[in-house]
Amino acid sequence: MFKRVAIVGVGFMGGSFALALREAVKGVEILGVDINPKALEKALDLKVIDRAYERLDDLENVGLVVLASPVRTFYNIAKSLKQVLDDQTIVTDMGSVKGKLVYELENILGKKFVGGHPIAGTEKSGVENSRKDLFKGKRFILTPTPNTDQEAKRKVSELWSLLGSYVEEMDPYVHDYVFGCVSHLPHAVAFALIDALINLKKDVDLFKYPGAGFRDFTRIAASDPIMWRDIFLENKENVLTAIDVYISSLQKLVDLIREGREEELTSYLKEAREHRLRLE
Ligand code: NAI
Repeated sequence: MFKRVAIVGVGFMGGSFALALREAVKGVEILGVDINPKALEKALDLKVIDRAYERLDDLENVGLVVLASPVRTFYNIAKSLKQVLDDQTIVTDMGSVKGKLVYELENILGKKFVGGHPIAGTEKSGVENSRKDLFKGKRFILTPTPNTDQEAKRKVSELWSLLGSYVEEMDPYVHDYVFGCVSHLPHAVAFALIDALINLKKDVDLFKYPGAGFRDFTRIAASDPIMWRDIFLENKENVLTAIDVYISSLQKLVDLIREGREEELTSYLKEAREHRLRLE
């Protein structure tokens, strides 16, 4: 297993990975790289990392590098890493978008880059919210390409199993369609719902009366804006397709309510309810 691991982006996900790694792999040395000195300071104080770096150039003898910053930072980070890493170093990531990003990172870094996405998280950000049990019992999606080095893939897969995740493989483009629908769309809708309430507020501050439904539904709108800006832009096509279909569903609902089509409205709601109940 890896003796020295560098995490680029020591926030909520990078910090949670570090805590889980420390517990699973005894004696591992964890290096943290971040552009925010305060994040590094906190990570050292909380003993999440052993050593802190503000520059990638200073990394040496690292077996594994894990990218855990917002997805649109990955391109430049990969270019800088290419200058400092030797051929043996495996690079992986925790980014929420894969697709062409995986192929571009592979072009820069070579076949020892293995794309991945832990299906675990919350609306929290920052290293102070890190949790060592975040990945236990959760899915981890590996997104290899036909070029991915098999040994590197096996090692990354084994590591995530060791952290308690169920590892599953998926084509990078299929990944972006699936998570564009089940994760990126709901986040877009939650942000938009809050925006709608800002516009709906007249003389009364609507945010003073949050019902349980409103709280449940909009929890994810408290997520980090930079992280979500990057996800929406990087998975633009899938997100826009999903939003278009969602607008059609809303329009159907609008028509049924406006025209008072009672029976069809009941069926629409019933079908949605049944699908939701199957998730429990
Ligand atoms: P976060 O905001 O808590 O942490 C991001 C960290 O990256 C910050 O400390 C920031 O200073 C640092 N950073 C920004 N630009 C950088 C750069 N150029 N070089 C080095 N460090 C840089 O965000 P979080 O939630 O930890 O997300 C990180 C990654 O994990 C994102 O790519 C996201 O898509 C992915 N992810 C997040 C999940 C979540 O629920 N939060 C779930 C699954 C994946």
